[in-house]
Amino acid sequence: MQIPSDLIVILGTGGTIAGTAKTASDGVGYTAAQLSVADLLAAVPALAGRRLEAQQVAQLDSKDMDFLTWQRLAGAVQQQLARPEVGGIVITHGTDTLEETAYFLHRVLAPAKPVVLTAAMRPATALAPDGPQNLFDAVQVAGTPGAAGVVVALAGRVHDAAQVRKTHSYRVDAFESVDGALVARVEEGAVRLLGRWPAGEGLGLARISRPAERWPRVEIVMNHAGAGGTVVQALRAAGVDGLIAAGTGNGTLSVALESALREAQAGGVKVWRSTRCDAGPVMDLPGLLPGAGALSPVKARIEMILTLLGE
Ligand code: SIN
Repeated sequence: MQIPSDLIVILGTGGTIAGTAKTASDGVGYTAAQLSVADLLAAVPALAGRRLEAQQVAQLDSKDMDFLTWQRLAGAVQQQLARPEVGGIVITHGTDTLEETAYFLHRVLAPAKPVVLTAAMRPATALAPDGPQNLFDAVQVAGTPGAAGVVVALAGRVHDAAQVRKTHSYRVDAFESVDGALVARVEEGAVRLLGRWPAGEGLGLARISRPAERWPRVEIVMNHAGAGGTVVQALRAAGVDGLIAAGTGNGTLSVALESALREAQAGGVKVWRSTRCDAGPVMDLPGLLPGAGALSPVKARIEMILTLLGE
């Protein structure tokens, strides 16, 4: 007998979607990560007919996301996906580092079933909270036949984990697929596929099994007018393992910053060049420091951590 695989598991990690304020008109002076994932589901009666399970994996403001929580989350996602009755996963998350968690899960797991991150820009107590609609939409995406991979569903749009960035500090449609097409739109609960579900090969949980406190330390340094090498020297002195240079334009660097980065590289620190521009790749040219392709600085940092974990 075939087991129906229509169960959607909702994993809660906190964020504004679970945030509360003292008054309904307060959209910024709230505290994130107050409500449980079960509370969030209770606020969406339209999901009553679906087979859902909820699990609280963490309860934090995503500005404080850390390696240990990523390890736990990746393990929980893998465990749930291995159940034949589970058709997909939804992860409720804060918006601030959502693109980092999405990219991390994409690179580690590259799941064959859909893993849909969602969030909200307004707390649950707001006059017009966006969380319930986003959660409803995310469940529709996670239950879509043929859906796969790690995606982000927010404000009616479905983004690829590799592309998505938070591009606005306040608006409810705060996320963009900056350098590519949307994967899909969600319209009145219907998922309209526009592109392709993300695919790829995950590195696997073994890659991230090292105790979180011993993960490589990779920091981001930015080029800007007057950028010097002092920050790089200080980070080297603090024992950094890798550096992502958020360069200007095509990852260009001031003479002083580049010289400090090259010294760091010669001293055994891994150095990659990315761009502080909001979209677009860095091109590799002979003689330049290695480029991070189209990865934003924060995603390049994750890629470098995963690379160093494999060395
Ligand atoms: C957070 O990232 O946890 C707080 C901000 C948000 O979710 O919008």
